[in-house]
Amino acid sequence: MNQPKRYLITSALPYANGLKHLGHLAGAYIPADVYVRYLRAQKRDVVFVCGSDEHGTAIPIQAMKEGSTPQAIIDKYHYELKENFADLDISFDIYHRTSEPIHHETATEFFTSLNDAGELEQKETEQYYDEAAKTFLADRFIKGTCPNCGSDRAFGDQCENCGRTLSPDELINPVSTLSGEPPVKKKTTHWYLPLGKHEQFLRDWILKEHKDDWRPTVTGQCKAWIDGGLQSRAVTRDLDWGVKIPSNIPGSEGKVLYVWFDAPIGYISATKQWAIDNDKDWKPYWYDADTKLVHFVGKDNIVFHCIIFPIMLKLHGNILPDNVPANEFLNLEGDKMSTSRNWKVDMIDFINDFVKKPVPEGTTYDGKQMVDALRYYLVSIGPETKDSEFTWKGFQTAYRSELSDIFGNFVNRSFVLMHKLCGGKVPKLHEEILDDNDKLLFADIESTAAEVQSAIEYYHFRDALFQVIDLARKGNQYLQKKEPWILAKQVAANPEAQKQIDNCLHICLQLCANLSILINPFLPNTARKMLYMMKVVEKMLDWENAGKLKLLSVGYSLREPQLLFRKIEDEEIDYQIEKLKNGLIKPESTAPMEEKKEQPAPAEQKALIQYDDFAKLELKAATVIACEKVAKADKLLKLEIDLGTEKRTIVSGIALHYTPEELIGKQVIVVTNLAPRKMKGIESQGMILTAEDSDGKLQLLQPQHPVAPGSNVS
Ligand code: 2FM
Ligand code: ZN
Repeated sequence: MNQPKRYLITSALPYANGLKHLGHLAGAYIPADVYVRYLRAQKRDVVFVCGSDEHGTAIPIQAMKEGSTPQAIIDKYHYELKENFADLDISFDIYHRTSEPIHHETATEFFTSLNDAGELEQKETEQYYDEAAKTFLADRFIKGTCPNCGSDRAFGDQCENCGRTLSPDELINPVSTLSGEPPVKKKTTHWYLPLGKHEQFLRDWILKEHKDDWRPTVTGQCKAWIDGGLQSRAVTRDLDWGVKIPSNIPGSEGKVLYVWFDAPIGYISATKQWAIDNDKDWKPYWYDADTKLVHFVGKDNIVFHCIIFPIMLKLHGNILPDNVPANEFLNLEGDKMSTSRNWKVDMIDFINDFVKKPVPEGTTYDGKQMVDALRYYLVSIGPETKDSEFTWKGFQTAYRSELSDIFGNFVNRSFVLMHKLCGGKVPKLHEEILDDNDKLLFADIESTAAEVQSAIEYYHFRDALFQVIDLARKGNQYLQKKEPWILAKQVAANPEAQKQIDNCLHICLQLCANLSILINPFLPNTARKMLYMMKVVEKMLDWENAGKLKLLSVGYSLREPQLLFRKIEDEEIDYQIEKLKNGLIKPESTAPMEEKKEQPAPAEQKALIQYDDFAKLELKAATVIACEKVAKADKLLKLEIDLGTEKRTIVSGIALHYTPEELIGKQVIVVTNLAPRKMKGIESQGMILTAEDSDGKLQLLQPQHPVAPGSNVS
């Protein structure tokens, strides 16, 4: 494999509007850290950058919720997040922030240069404006009734009750959250990045050049975006929080860069700051083709890192990412992780409950072991190819039965036996009596090192980790076969037995040394504890030593073993499960929102459900027998439907998509056992199913041929 001259590795910049949970950690931070630690052990030139994403409407909204100011919010969460990452040993070379002047300068230069080159378009549109507050309203600042479920707490970007993605125009009776007044439509001009102009470039670059080396989930999502038609995207907003458009550009007043334009430029400004701090040149990392740029992100960020930012980079003359190994989502105990419902485990909670847990009398806790325990579990269930699931019991089981019982046990047994049977020193290797089992284990050490390396290079972190555990498992099997404790009983009668003991433990210790090197990118604390026990210096962890068989010198005395992994008690796990269930909150929370990702990612998946969950739905075919508009509600229609044995009234938010006349006589599919709900004073006794087409029009779901009203749908 041709090695690039240098690496620039990025993890998605988290919004500084709230705490981040283990789903975020598993998606964009731990895999990146594993990769970077591996590259550092390879002695490659690597810079790992991240920082807080401090712009966008998410910040002023959180400030409103907390009765604070945007500046106070970003300060609070920036430092909190920075510390959380450090506590979990995510080893950024710099954790920067987008509120820094160097970032504002960098982002402004980027915008100006694209604008000067004629790569941006200006377009006038109509947007909601709050006349009392004298400001245009971001989607989140508009509230109203959801056309889908009738909740009166829907926002202009999404309904918190039913989860439907909305646009402000769809809200029934919209009001501004700033003044409480209905907003008015007003013209405004924005800058747009015409993505469509770059379609061929994207097709060639992603779908041809990276067809085989990018994850299929990533190229698949990109293809869906490209095939779906690339619309021009606004890169500015009417907001007073963000990177301001330079005042010498006509039309700049009141405009800031859209957060999704400035945030990825944060990777560049972070690199610049790192270079200043370390007396280095930042430019080759963003301009020299011999730099490998890799973005670690979650799947909701794919479009920004694979389509929009690369277009910006290309237009600006920078290098493009070599890969974007995006992860799918991590679910939690059978459900999607959710900040608004508080169905999540925050990094800080894990840190407080496990890593910094006060030590009860008579027990010893090693917080750093718990960092490695978490890193282990999150890599082992990493959602690399599909959504995966965190469960507390799964955490306890994986930790105990894989990490502790296999890896920890092998290391511990090797050290205990070496102290007991070889005087605490690395025994000699008697080459003349090496047998097939010894040779096989040597070969396994060599081949595993190569396989782990290859898996990491291809971003298959789970596979790489399992290879390491498998090697420890082979070590246990080897010990079991050799039974040095039995041989020890034969030494008096047969001096050759001591030679066999020496060989067995010599090989086990060399294997321990190799395990410390191979586990280091994943579990850095464990690797260091092993170094301490082996009394060797950090340099031994250099990757060039992986697969070598003479890492520990004969006769060298080693320390007593230390417990690598403490027990995780059932009570600790039960406590976490209780805490999670008790903390679950229903909508209308004050939980931080995520900056809306303008168009939902195609093929976004909800958490898996069991058949029993699906079977709870009662779906029937019905015929529309009457239909009329609902007074004072542009989006609602009132339908009378015939279900064969009964007639029902249904209120549905499809008035923008169908006229009443079009619907009469049509067959529809209805959820008939949904609890009744009042909309505009009318009780709706069910829900009509629709699918959204590529123009955003709702299409009725219908049987292919007419069926008797009341027919079951399954
Ligand atoms: O989704 C998010 O949390 C964004 N703040 C990620 C930004 S990544 C990059 F563009 F900076
Ligand atoms: Zn809704």
